Amino acid sequence: MDAFLIKGGRPLHGDVSISGSKNATLPLMAAALLTSEPCTIRRIPNLSDVQFMGEILKSLGAEVTFEGDSVTIRARKIHEVGKYDLIRKMRASICILGPLMGRLGRARVSLPGGCVIGARPIDLHLKGLRALGARFTVRAGYVLGETKRLVGTEVFLGGRVGPTVLGTVNIMMAATLAEGTTLIESAACEPEVIDVANFLIAMGAKIQGAGGPTITITGVKKLHGAQHDVIPDRIEAATFAIAAAVTRGEITLKNCRPDHLGAVLDKLRETGVKAERRGPDLVVSHGRTRLRPVDITTQPYAGFPTDVQAQMMVLMLLVPGISVITERIFEARFMHVPELCRLGAEISIEGPSAIVKGGRPLSGAQIMASDLRASAALVLAGLAAEGSTTVKRVYHLDRGYDRMDEKLRTLGARIERVPDRPESE
Ligand code: EPU
Repeated sequence: MDAFLIKGGRPLHGDVSISGSKNATLPLMAAALLTSEPCTIRRIPNLSDVQFMGEILKSLGAEVTFEGDSVTIRARKIHEVGKYDLIRKMRASICILGPLMGRLGRARVSLPGGCVIGARPIDLHLKGLRALGARFTVRAGYVLGETKRLVGTEVFLGGRVGPTVLGTVNIMMAATLAEGTTLIESAACEPEVIDVANFLIAMGAKIQGAGGPTITITGVKKLHGAQHDVIPDRIEAATFAIAAAVTRGEITLKNCRPDHLGAVLDKLRETGVKAERRGPDLVVSHGRTRLRPVDITTQPYAGFPTDVQAQMMVLMLLVPGISVITERIFEARFMHVPELCRLGAEISIEGPSAIVKGGRPLSGAQIMASDLRASAALVLAGLAAEGSTTVKRVYHLDRGYDRMDEKLRTLGARIERVPDRPESE
């Protein structure tokens, strides 16, 4: 296991190139199961989760070849068994369910289980596929699905806290090969859903309305191979934007699709951070003014993303005054709070809200990453803190950030990857 050793207090300056989106790449790779022809996905990020999705597809019988920043998948002959050992490690692997049901009419996929950020049920995925005619039973930890033929219908996917991203993608993928027309209502509007829809359209699918709350899919008999460039990772971009603010530096985010960052930029500007669009790039700087605290509530897109909540909390720690950060998407997504408190932060949790008393100096300490976005927040806190911070268990970070330590170093950060020795416990 690796750790990051960070010597904080240095402003970050320079250009950073934003990698392809993790949360688009994973379902894009699963979509390749819908055809027996080869599909190539380019601009993929270099992440352990992406490698892992490759392993899952191989375990289903697909040929998967990584080359540079692209992957070619050929799912000539596949079977329907997604094994527990693989699925439990990455929740996103549930997005093989829709393609398996669409292509084979059967699936035997392990239930993914919960994760540290919440229970993460899949009831809406099953509800949608059932509406299309699939029958599901749960046996021995596996969800067993079967159908003679999926048939298009109306599917309402609004859940307890709003739409579901991977649920929307799963139903959309399955419906591409269903008979007739499927109408997904209360669909997730995230840019990753649009990206998957665009890939499916390139494969011959008939889809309208992705990116809005109603998606119409008219089933076709067969899909064919296609090539696709993944959209930039808006969460990585937001994380580097916040890195500029918390280190009082200036970073140009190259090729980051600022149009996908509306809610984050709005909150950064409200606090006083400067963010200027230059075509596909974005220049973010702390600015000279005293920053103000802002309240944040996470919401489905186009609201403030839950995946940026932890990082934004670090900025609020540095701003004098009180801010309230409310998490509405995942019930347990405050694992970073006790670790931030080890650096001197003052944060209390009341129900779904974290009350942040900002303006206290942070000082370096040993802290432990618990999940992907919490890890990113701890790294940002380490960059802003006085002295040395060791962030342990950075494998969480490597799942979803493409060479974050290298990118930070090119911006002037003092960050090193070191062995996570037990004696430093
Ligand atoms: N939900 C249900 N039933 C379902 C599905 C979801 O109740 O059948 C609930 C969830 O428990 C949650 C809410 O609906 O409370 C939204 O979950 P959603 O299904 O949208 O999440 P997801 O599709 O599993 C993706 C991202 C997450 C991101 C969320 C929300 C991928 C691979 N994952 O998860 O990304 O936080 O959407 O935007 O796309 C991350 O990258 O760190 C990450 C966790």
